[in-house]
Amino acid sequence: MREYYIAGNWKMNKTAAESREFAEQLADALEEASVKLMIAPPFTALESVSSIVQGTNIILGAQNMCHETSGAFTGEVSADMLLDLDVTAVILGHSERRTIYGETDELINQKVRLALTKGLEPVFCIGETLDEREAGRVEDVVRTQVTKGLAGVSEDQLKQVTIAYEPVWAIGTGKTATPDDANAVHAFVRSLIRELYSDAAAQAVQIQYGGSVKPDNVRELMAQEDIDGALVGGASLKLEDFKKIALFKK
Ligand code: 13P
Repeated sequence: MREYYIAGNWKMNKTAAESREFAEQLADALEEASVKLMIAPPFTALESVSSIVQGTNIILGAQNMCHETSGAFTGEVSADMLLDLDVTAVILGHSERRTIYGETDELINQKVRLALTKGLEPVFCIGETLDEREAGRVEDVVRTQVTKGLAGVSEDQLKQVTIAYEPVWAIGTGKTATPDDANAVHAFVRSLIRELYSDAAAQAVQIQYGGSVKPDNVRELMAQEDIDGALVGGASLKLEDFKKIALFKK
């Protein structure tokens, strides 16, 4: 049985003080959760949130990371800087990084491999745009993203990787993939992992769904065979909503 993994991507929201207060509320509210939990505040709030989630059932994630270890990369944050703040997980290849900042599969692959070498757990994001879906290219797009993004990642390293399937057209739009449509892509991703690695790796890999996950659709999504969790944006910024999502099993 794969464990469910629910993560909150706060994106570019909340100051350090706001993040600290929210993390305190979450730590109390989510004590009873029986799933793996992660929150990813902005970089500027990692330090303050780190001390709050210490010793709780919430792990700390970052939203991005530089593909190189140090040096002349103005504006970037390194893996060691994240580790220094007790960050455990890092979201890589988010569609906003791909589309707004032009991150390529090759760059994302460098980040994934570096994160793994450093002992960070990547949450590796994939997903098609609306145009790609309408052109019937979902499997092509996802195949390329998975194959290139995980190139050079060993089967042993893959155990630390979570894949997040986030159809770009469902992010922040209120449009969710139907549970069946989402599950079909998740099953396809799992079959790719079987092809690239092994049946055991395919059975074990956790695949989160992301894109307008809310309290009223989380149960149906999580009931799908190949959906193992959620990467939540907007609803992760609201205490009651994220609580209901994280406690969806109750
Ligand atoms: P929303 O939940 O706001 O659609 O965002 C999803 C997302 O991008 C999480 O990484």
